[in-house]
Amino acid sequence: MTAATVTVPCVKIAVVAETAEAESRVALVPDQVPVLTGLGYDVAVEPQAGAAADFADELYAGAGATVDAEALQEAGLVLSVQPLRTDQIRRLRQGAATMSFLPVSASLDQVADLRDCGITSFALELVPRISRAQSMDALSSQALVAGYRCAVVAAGLLRRFFPLNMTAAGTVRPAEVVVLGAGVAGLQAIATSKRLGAVVRAYDVRAAAAEEIRSVGAQAIELELETLEGAGGYAREMSEDRAARQLELLAPYIAAADALITTAAVPGRTAPMLVTREMVEAMKPGSVVVDLAAESGGNVEGAEPGRVKAIGDVRLWGARNVPSQMPGPASTLLAQNIVNLVTLMTAEGTFAPDFEDEIVAGSCVTHDSTIRNQPAAALFAPPEQPADQTEGNHP
Ligand code: NAI
Repeated sequence: MTAATVTVPCVKIAVVAETAEAESRVALVPDQVPVLTGLGYDVAVEPQAGAAADFADELYAGAGATVDAEALQEAGLVLSVQPLRTDQIRRLRQGAATMSFLPVSASLDQVADLRDCGITSFALELVPRISRAQSMDALSSQALVAGYRCAVVAAGLLRRFFPLNMTAAGTVRPAEVVVLGAGVAGLQAIATSKRLGAVVRAYDVRAAAAEEIRSVGAQAIELELETLEGAGGYAREMSEDRAARQLELLAPYIAAADALITTAAVPGRTAPMLVTREMVEAMKPGSVVVDLAAESGGNVEGAEPGRVKAIGDVRLWGARNVPSQMPGPASTLLAQNIVNLVTLMTAEGTFAPDFEDEIVAGSCVTHDSTIRNQPAAALFAPPEQPADQTEGNHP
């Protein structure tokens, strides 16, 4: 008797040309195509998918992908940066999978469509932040790009040197930079400002942050306030009293800064308001403020995403999709995260996510026509029925 040979059909991976405003990234870069074909996939890229990030169609074709306007229809797995639009989801075949950023509370229509069309969807921001998943952590890779960019924007807006200059004519003192929020983006903003030669001070509510700030060469601002540690090493929300006290204690540091960069965030909440308009107005003429949190509510009063505003003599830059402002490196890092995630979900040359794996289970939003992610499912839960009133205290 001869052994039966099982032929696994080649799964097609489609790469979407992003259409969202201000989105220049692409979910797969040409360098990563051979990794996927090496795993046994066919890769098809929508025309111009990488153009805004300077990756021409020819580069994808040279790396072994096909360039195909109909890539989505036959795909077993669709890679995109932003969530697919409803019309794209409805073009997928039942049982296909998607991998993208998918902020569930802001994408309820798409989540419902993914469920109803029988699509298995994975959200990059839901990949658990555990050691084993570090190579798949797209939040960190994109925050790294954003933090670097913020420091460079601040240096570009400021009409003076960041570094100390000692010249024959005399000394020019270095710029003073204050960074609020020292997570992944904040630490990168600190490190970049330091490399540019500025004197950097930084503050974060987490207890571990002071040491992390010092490790990248900045002075940690230590306030007489309790630290705020929440679940998973993240920050907790502040009480009103603590917020008011923090504002007051930070005011002199901000008034002394030439450049202020804010990156503070609390998962699942709007960004904490850390700097009032009055505090910005108290800064020296010509100072600059860069608010990375502008899109999620803002750390600085008056910040608007995508705009530079004058507040008195200070310029306030509100962030909008900052990683997309450096689309080449942001896409390269993102593609590496995605390919690592696809590799985890590949077995014997085919796409076979193992839902027993906590990374797979944690990042899955929809599967088998159900919403797997608990917070997302709760948003779709029917409103609670009023308590049965057939018994009890009727008059
Ligand atoms: P994030 O983007 O949620 O927040 C940015 C920063 O803002 C945080 O450091 C937070 O403490 C700070 N913040 C919040 N409220 C503040 C306030 N009122 N004033 C000043 N700062 C405030 O955080 P991100 O960058 O995503 O990561 C934060 C932490 O998450 C890391 O330091 C680490 O502990 C953990 N992490 C773990 C990873 C892993 O294990 N693979 C990867 C990345 C992060």
